Amino acid sequence: MEFEGKAAIITGGARGIGFTIAEALAKQGAKVALLDPGGAKDGSHEAGSPADEAAAAIRAGGGTAMAINASVADHEACGRAVALCDEKFGGVDILVNSAGVLRPKMLWNMPEADWDIVVAVHLKGTYNMIHHASKRMRERRWGRIINMASEAWRGTVGQANYGAAKGGVFSLTRAAARELGRYGVTANTVCPAAATRLTMDDAVKEGFRKRLAAGLITQQRFDEVMDMGGPEHIAPFVCYLASDHAAAINGQAFRVEQGKVAIYNDPEIKATLMKTGREVFDFAELIDMVPKALLQGYVNPAPPEKS
Ligand SMILES: NC(=O)c1ccc[n+]([C@@H]2O[C@H](COP(=O)([O-])OP(=O)(O)OC[C@H]3O[C@@H](n4cnc5c(N)ncnc54)[C@H](O)[C@@H]3O)[C@@H](O)[C@H]2O)c1
Repeated sequence: MEFEGKAAIITGGARGIGFTIAEALAKQGAKVALLDPGGAKDGSHEAGSPADEAAAAIRAGGGTAMAINASVADHEACGRAVALCDEKFGGVDILVNSAGVLRPKMLWNMPEADWDIVVAVHLKGTYNMIHHASKRMRERRWGRIINMASEAWRGTVGQANYGAAKGGVFSLTRAAARELGRYGVTANTVCPAAATRLTMDDAVKEGFRKRLAAGLITQQRFDEVMDMGGPEHIAPFVCYLASDHAAAINGQAFRVEQGKVAIYNDPEIKATLMKTGREVFDFAELIDMVPKALLQGYVNPAPPEKS
């Protein structure tokens, strides 16, 4: 089995994408720790322990799994989780950061608490786990870090907190790849699309129905969204990234959804205005040159409404 003798921590492993990844890793012999305190989609408290249930389901299927009811936003708790995984499973070889919450609002309506929780879970949580787990991986000179980001990092409406946090995850992953690569540890980003409670609950479906009825989206777009595949479409590629076959893949970002795996370009400068020597650009010159030389073919993603 591909992951025999390996130990993995999957944050957000009680549900959705994290759970299917944990299941898939366990089926291939990994011992999996599901770090997940439960909670509603917006991160608020819920009764019960979905991580306990998820770990029991994996064990019932013949795998080795334990639940860790802790939050990725808690730096010390993440350290304790890594130590526990080390003690019970003999190490931490694979880290999948899949914890997630949503607090969508326009920026001018977004209270500080909604900003803080989303950034704490997605961005700080990813740092917390990498910080603690990478020490162990570095010592062993083997490790795989796979972080869930989102297309939202490219710019989104109504969830700037989430988009900004995921943009941070994207940059954090690129930095981790560069710091850890020499120790045999890789770090890559996956931007998934899968029907889970985060993306496709009844309220989300109703929202899309309303947008279709109001003519804000096409029938084709509506049908595409409703046909979104489940989280089982994400797990195989994450397992591939976690395997020895992907030892040379580092610092990359992938889009993964039903029937599709794609790789993003590295962000790079596409045009430059140059000055010779130490001359300072003057204002009039910029008015003339920026549209001509820097912004050819540019389209404003959000032009002002015509009144
Ligand atoms: N589903 C998609 O299409 C999609 C798209 C883009 C990005 N993502 C990302 O993929 C990841 C998984 O999303 P999902 O769709 O499976 O969502 P999900 O809601 O099904 O699962 C997320 C899990 O994270 C857990 N969680 C929440 N706060 C936590 C915390 N503080 N510490 C640890 N765990 C916590 C939740 O309890 C839940 O079990 C998220 O990072 C999400 O942003 C998902």
